[in-house]
Amino acid sequence: MIQTETINIQPTNESRLPQLDFESLVFGRTFSDHMLVMDFKDGKWQKPSILPYQNLSMSPASSVIHYGQSIFEGLKAFKNENGDFGLFRPDRNIDRMNKSAVRMCMPELPTELVLEGLKELVRLDQGWIPTSEMGSLYIRPVLFATDEYIGVKASDTYRFLIFTAPVNAYYTKPVKVKIERNYTRAAHGGTGAAKAAGNYAGSLYPARLANQQGYDQLLWTDAQTHSYIEESGTMNVMFLIDDTLITPALSDTILDGITRSSVLELARSWGMKVEERKVSVQEITDAAKEGRLKDAFGCGTAATIAQIASIADGDQEYVLPEVEEREFSKKLSNYFIDLKKFRIEDSLNWMIKLN
Ligand code: PLP
Ligand code: COI
Repeated sequence: MIQTETINIQPTNESRLPQLDFESLVFGRTFSDHMLVMDFKDGKWQKPSILPYQNLSMSPASSVIHYGQSIFEGLKAFKNENGDFGLFRPDRNIDRMNKSAVRMCMPELPTELVLEGLKELVRLDQGWIPTSEMGSLYIRPVLFATDEYIGVKASDTYRFLIFTAPVNAYYTKPVKVKIERNYTRAAHGGTGAAKAAGNYAGSLYPARLANQQGYDQLLWTDAQTHSYIEESGTMNVMFLIDDTLITPALSDTILDGITRSSVLELARSWGMKVEERKVSVQEITDAAKEGRLKDAFGCGTAATIAQIASIADGDQEYVLPEVEEREFSKKLSNYFIDLKKFRIEDSLNWMIKLN
């Protein structure tokens, strides 16, 4: 056991890295050697530990299983062919996790300590970061309730974990999306803007129906009228109509995506017209019919920039321009890859280099 002032580190003596085949990674199925664990009890966060990745043991009465106090994050570490590696905007994920924690009645994390633990963890498992063009180390922080109690109340104890997974692209080709006019992901006053586990649970059934109809993802609409676009299942969405980049404005029903805000900042710095506002389904389908919808894509940590191949609304399917013609989303994708692989100047200070 290595003791730093703030973190206990117990490295594995049986690394699984030699068995890793970087070529055949399936998203979210392979996990690196270590994880960070930090408990909340007696009203305060305890000293975190980095331990070999391992199963958890929990009581059947553990309150997270019953009442779903669980929030998570997703961020990535990148490495280039020279071995330089680092994190993309990790501070934003910790801030967002703290906002989710407040909404779900959970304790906020000690930001500096979590960032330090995250850096230690990624340094320790740096051998697991893929160097391929679309490869990265996906990082999953998760915070959940651990009280052994089945009365309905906010837990007094919690566990925070960070574990990591080497991954390749989440989507390997442009996605076919369906506008969801019946089911609802989030309503005003609800938990849609929090990265709460339950939001994802509720979206699985409508997503499965869409999959059965041949679509990859849903485009969620507002709960009241089902006529305004909100976001997709795992990403925010953007549309290029003529030469204006349009995206639904943030609200308490939309996740404040870090990729979304990075894309908007970049587009503005490139002199593009950008609009964050309500986006009606009608506007998008009209623009598609008139040939003015030049590009549409989802943006998210796992999904990166995921071009949308077609948008279905009821029986109508609108096919978007060929990928080769999508200059904006291609330029964005290339910019992000070059930035994350430390090939271009990081003028916006988004990368935290770890070596
Ligand atoms: N919206 C939802 C529902 C998501 O799960 C994600 C993924 O994290 C996003 C949007 C995109 O957010 P980010 O860019 O911070 O990954
Ligand atoms: C992410 O992009 O990090 C997500 O959370 C999407 C998904 C894997 C849940």
